[in-house]
Amino acid sequence: MDLNPQVSDMQVCFVLPTYNEEGNIKEIIQDILAVEVDLGGPVFSILVVDDNSKDRTQEIVRGIILDNNAISLITGDKQGLGDAYKRGIRFALDNLNPDIIFQMDSDGQHDAALIPHFLEELNTGKDVVIGSRFIEGGETPDFSKRRLLISRIGNFMVRYVGGVSHLRDCTSGFRAIRTSFLENCDFNFLSTKGYSFQSSLICDLVWRGAVASEIPIIFNSRKDGDSKLSFEDQLEFLFNIPRLGFRNMEDFIKYSIVGLSGVILNLGIYTLLTRYFEFSELLAPIISIESALISNFMLNNIWTFGKRSSVSRTRVKFLKFHLVSGFAAIINYLVFLVLLLSFGVYDILANLIGIALAAAVNYLINSNWTWKNSK
Ligand code: GDD
Ligand code: MN
Repeated sequence: MDLNPQVSDMQVCFVLPTYNEEGNIKEIIQDILAVEVDLGGPVFSILVVDDNSKDRTQEIVRGIILDNNAISLITGDKQGLGDAYKRGIRFALDNLNPDIIFQMDSDGQHDAALIPHFLEELNTGKDVVIGSRFIEGGETPDFSKRRLLISRIGNFMVRYVGGVSHLRDCTSGFRAIRTSFLENCDFNFLSTKGYSFQSSLICDLVWRGAVASEIPIIFNSRKDGDSKLSFEDQLEFLFNIPRLGFRNMEDFIKYSIVGLSGVILNLGIYTLLTRYFEFSELLAPIISIESALISNFMLNNIWTFGKRSSVSRTRVKFLKFHLVSGFAAIINYLVFLVLLLSFGVYDILANLIGIALAAAVNYLINSNWTWKNSK
């Protein structure tokens, strides 16, 4: 394959986490090195991050290092996949001087033959390329129904709560990342230790302006051994979701301030109309509510989501904003009714919960639909 000269000059580092991969590690290293020979351009290095495997993984890697100084090994105690990646990426940045870092599993589930496609895609101006199981052409032939469902639900949550809805596979472990975006990554912020590191990292990169795209991969079955994904990993993943939402909070805080200004405007206009201009209590709210909606829309459009490059025209967003507000009002009302009538919750508390839920739904839909970022 002919690569663009820009790619040909690159230093590419593969960070391979391993835990008990004696049956796979040699083959994956050979596969990667074979691609380097085929490409004849970019210089590859491989960093194995082994967490004191109980099997012969380290011994095998040390044997390969003897004949090839482009391969390195760091070790540590097993703290989880995310922790291993953090240490590995830090080490690679400090010692191996890469332009691009690949994340890749060491168990043969990721096909090394796809590496050139990642490099080509990066070369079209991307900062992150994800090997995606969930775009057209991507597959997970060996996933059980249960694992597929978990993966789907997990991805759905990350995409919409983390503000990266344009990406389909946020938990994939096969990615190429420009190191310029990793250098100023605050790994302490990505406080996860396990598999949820993958989703935290992709959100962090995109929030800091990385242009990410996906290419399809077929997530083959493991060559040898079993998956290390544990129940604790899945729990951590769940607890991490609100944190992703929270880190993505700047927009939400702005949105809430705008919402509050709307409430004040709504009440102010209502008071003015009914007390000074003798409007009826039936007509006044229509004017005050619509004024607040218009003001909220304009402030959100200019301020809250001002930096986003939206696909829709302003008048379409305006219409969507109204629809979402109506939908949120219905949710508010339904939650209020259910809590009050079925659970006997105190009416003001019931309304407060209804308002909170409606506000969250309102924000999430507006953020991901009305002002969906096209980048
Ligand atoms: N150093 C280190 N420490 N390596 C680990 C650890 C750890 O605690 N846990 C797992 N690994 C290594 C494994 O040896 C393997 O090379 C790679 O990380 C992926 O682990 P698997 O156990 O094979 O993960 P999986 O196949 O179930 O999960 C895949 O899909 C997930 C999303 O569905 C991976 O691609 C994950 O990265 C991905 O998040
Ligand atoms: Mn695996």
